[in-house]
Amino acid sequence: MAKHVFRCVDCASEFPAEVPRWRCGCGAPLDVDVKEIFPRAELSKRRPNLWRYRESLPIQDDGSIVSLDEGMTPLVPVPLAGREVHCKLDFLFPTGSFKDRGATLLISKVREWGIREVLGDSSGNAAAAIAAYAGRAGIDCDMYVPEDTSPAKCAQISAYGARLVKIPGPRQATTDAAMEAAASRFYASHFWNCWFNHGTKTWAFEVWEQLGQRAPDAVAVPAGHGSMLIGAHKGFGELLAAGYIGRMPRIFAVQAARCAPLHEIWKGSLNAIPEIEIRPTLAEGISITKPIRWKQMVAAVRETGGEVLAVEDEALPPLLRAFARRGILMEPTSAVPFAGVEALVREKKLGARETVVVPVTGHGLKAADKLEKLFGKNG
Ligand SMILES: Cc1ncc(COP(=O)(O)O)c(C=O)c1O
Ligand SMILES: [Zn+2]
Repeated sequence: MAKHVFRCVDCASEFPAEVPRWRCGCGAPLDVDVKEIFPRAELSKRRPNLWRYRESLPIQDDGSIVSLDEGMTPLVPVPLAGREVHCKLDFLFPTGSFKDRGATLLISKVREWGIREVLGDSSGNAAAAIAAYAGRAGIDCDMYVPEDTSPAKCAQISAYGARLVKIPGPRQATTDAAMEAAASRFYASHFWNCWFNHGTKTWAFEVWEQLGQRAPDAVAVPAGHGSMLIGAHKGFGELLAAGYIGRMPRIFAVQAARCAPLHEIWKGSLNAIPEIEIRPTLAEGISITKPIRWKQMVAAVRETGGEVLAVEDEALPPLLRAFARRGILMEPTSAVPFAGVEALVREKKLGARETVVVPVTGHGLKAADKLEKLFGKNG
């Protein structure tokens, strides 16, 4: 596999990617461009996991790969807002969320770099995924989460063998604590390390394959730090560059109105992250006030003719209920892009014949306490 080069998303400085690094000297995040693409004619002979796209995944040696045979989650049609939406059941990963796509790549790279101790922080799902893959690789792991993280996610992190560090205060306080601790161990952050987004891009490859090697017309994804959003843009972008698709799907990024910095940036064409008032939301997974890759996130939406939307928490319980009654039990955060699709249909921004794909990003059992409160008496 070709050697990769880190490129700063702000100042364009370059660094060899064989040397561990998670940030540019200027303080901005890094990315790597992957030029290779998997051979489409070979796919039918490969195992149904996300490593079937091996040539597109920037890990040098097969021996570095840390995998649980994850990926190729089902794509099922579900009626919503008077139309059909294709739901990609990404809660069916080993740790119960789409974050395993990123964790298998990130921890494979960490192993390739020979790093034996890491730390990370998240609202819970990325921490659980990274803890699981680090545990599998025998890599020592500290995980910082906000104090009010769902108990199921905390239980997972501890069970996988990571040291769980709960930080009081808002989500940003957890990141601040983790970044301070990163002076002494490698910061295996899912939003700072671009390898994570090269994992989440397999979401787009799978959708393309499952639609008969076609791109959908539109996708709607939840957006916090943007790993699903940037991953979708990368994945479809690489398919376009290879000539495997003729045009990009429109990408809609959906946030919870109670914590919507990207939506503020979008609405106001701002060129910095605004200070926003923090209001508690059911969508704990995307309660992010400072998405460090916001420029990439905005570009992903703008380039594809999509939009950034913000939806009210009140829209979520009816959707959680409706999907559960169809056998799909998702955590509240995952209902956010479906509320986005409802808004787009209301505003007549989706054509009746357009193929729309939405990921179901996290399992309902991750937030059993919240679902119990909402539906405990069959509400
Ligand atoms: C269930 C769920 N959906 C979506 C997201 C959004 O991911 P990102 O912060 O990478 O945009 C998260 C993040 O933790 C999540 O837990
Ligand atoms: Zn830089």
